[in-house]
Amino acid sequence: MSLESGQLVFVKDEVEGWLPATVGATNGQGEDMSLELVHEDGRTETVSKVSDEWLQRGDPSCLKGVEDMVKMDILTVGSVLHNLRTRYANQDIYTSVGSILAAINPYVLIPSLYDENCMNLYANMATDAGAPPHPYELMELAYRGLITDHRSQSVLISGESGAGKTETTKYLLSYLSHRSSTMEKERREAVPSVEQRRNSIGGRFSVEDSVVMSNPVMEAFANAKTTRNHNSSRFGKYIQVTLHASGVVTGGRVTTYLLEKTRVARQLAGERSYHVFYQLCQGADDDLRARLGLKEAAEFRSLTGGGCVEIDSMDDAEGFSETARCMESIGIGSEAKEGVFRVVAAVLHLLNVEFDMVDIPGQDVGSKVSERGEDSSLSWASKLLGVKPDQLEEALVARFINPGGFGSSDFVVVPSSPLVAASARDAVAKALYSSLFDWLVEKINLTLTAAMNSKTAANTSNRFIGLLDIFGFEAFGTNSLEQLLINYANERLQQQFNAFVFKLEEEEFAKQGLSKVYVEHCRVEFADNDDVLRLLEGKPQGILSLLKEESTLKTGTGLKLGKRYRQAFKGNDRFALPRARGGSRAGTEATFGIVHFAGEVIYDATEFVEKNKDEVPTALHDLVLSSNDREDTSWSS
Ligand SMILES: Nc1ncnc2c1ncn2[C@@H]1O[C@H](COP(=O)(O)OP(=O)(O)OP(=O)(O)O)[C@@H](O)[C@H]1O
Ligand SMILES: [Mg+2]
Repeated sequence: MSLESGQLVFVKDEVEGWLPATVGATNGQGEDMSLELVHEDGRTETVSKVSDEWLQRGDPSCLKGVEDMVKMDILTVGSVLHNLRTRYANQDIYTSVGSILAAINPYVLIPSLYDENCMNLYANMATDAGAPPHPYELMELAYRGLITDHRSQSVLISGESGAGKTETTKYLLSYLSHRSSTMEKERREAVPSVEQRRNSIGGRFSVEDSVVMSNPVMEAFANAKTTRNHNSSRFGKYIQVTLHASGVVTGGRVTTYLLEKTRVARQLAGERSYHVFYQLCQGADDDLRARLGLKEAAEFRSLTGGGCVEIDSMDDAEGFSETARCMESIGIGSEAKEGVFRVVAAVLHLLNVEFDMVDIPGQDVGSKVSERGEDSSLSWASKLLGVKPDQLEEALVARFINPGGFGSSDFVVVPSSPLVAASARDAVAKALYSSLFDWLVEKINLTLTAAMNSKTAANTSNRFIGLLDIFGFEAFGTNSLEQLLINYANERLQQQFNAFVFKLEEEEFAKQGLSKVYVEHCRVEFADNDDVLRLLEGKPQGILSLLKEESTLKTGTGLKLGKRYRQAFKGNDRFALPRARGGSRAGTEATFGIVHFAGEVIYDATEFVEKNKDEVPTALHDLVLSSNDREDTSWSS
């Protein structure tokens, strides 16, 4: 690294990451060079054996802040981070990197950053004179790309938990809604209010309003407090909004991914289950409470695992009114709404059922439900599910086993231990809840279809703007199948990004016969993640295919799977064995590491097979299907 007196540099700092300094006097050359550093606070120090691990050249423009970092000449980590820091200090939370928008969560609402004036500024911005970086700018460019270039557009919103992905998605959607309604106004020469828009399509809300109103419903059922975010989305969401060539929104569809089901039955310290459970316990009126046998949230075991039933920043009773109101707005009428809450309450009661050990002659183990009686959890769960308490108990405390294996129809009933019965209870509760969520999403989609403006829809050309709000890369103390799948999704997205930004650029140069120019002057070094994907997706030997195979074996377990991984991927650069660390399972053979593009993650495969099978015992599955309340429990299939 060549350094001259007066040059801006960044020095690694334990707390701040990288801090700016100026080079003072220099002495010597190359490895023997020593130099004086003048820090921001005026302190000077003499350093030698300079290495780019702790000292980097800096781009002076980052001291004032640059709106688009593509314009910086020196793109060192220190310069990039300092540029974001400088801008953030001025409440400029958004910075461009070409077509990418970097956002830093301010955790406070910045007045006027998202109001109608601001929307109009971007709607009217000239093509060549960019307004400051903003999600509205991004959406405006996508909107224009769709209308002018007749091409569908996609926005990928990525980042770690709490980064602000979901809030940004909402700003993007509200801008799109604003643009669409302004366009409609221009077409009709009248400003349609929400009420007018509702009336204009036969008493239903417009697509834009329906998309906006479906958000609180999805958040109530699939967002939860975690240690990182009091409103963390525990699912991935892709919203596709279709538009007419004139720029008016004509339809929409929501697709969801990987709802974190385990949270319904247990939570980590400092975390909660899904908001709707607490909302129902806090906000239901006396009649509904009586009909559903509701108690205080703290009395339901499945709501207290994380040790925090209430959140300071959240009013669950108010949340309940909002959820109920938005459910109605998206077409879930009073009866269906009651049916939904009945399932939510049934899940709570079911998870409160406990088991005692009993002696059954001729059997190794046996269990029974600890408490029966009119007001017991078993009784409420059965009542709300529309099945008989005896049948529910029977299905919980015994398993049907087929000793003859596949093809044989001879089943024997084997009593379960209290532990196995509890796991069957959790499995059916999780399955019920996730089917309910799928049903709600389908309901939202039906509403969006119904809200479609038929006149414009008939004219639509299937062009869309897609918004993907998906969990970022996860690396916790203990990482299980959920983290593996989330990180796999992120590897895929990263590959898409690489292909889009870097590989296509290289191909474009090659097409024009400029490969040499590209290699010599334009190539950007990037970490290709094809090898991680091969490790994950490889067939027949890949992390996922071995998991699938182990899950089909009668005697398959997570520990055996871990051992197979260790054998199969020994020597693979992307596969790592955990180094001895404090974690209790760090040393077991069920643990293994993957060197992802974002860093190494140690996984614990102990529960992989069980989670992958995701089985609801047959008897419980059949029982729920036999419910005498089928009309309202269509989600139980
Ligand atoms: N632009 C913003 N202005 C003000 N506050 C914000 C903004 N974006 C996010 N926040 C705050 O940060 C919190 C977390 O944001 P958000 O829920 O969008 O994170 P996320 O990236 O979706 O996280 P997760 O992956 O856990 O779902 C919000 O509840 C809000 O309080
Ligand atoms: Mg989110």
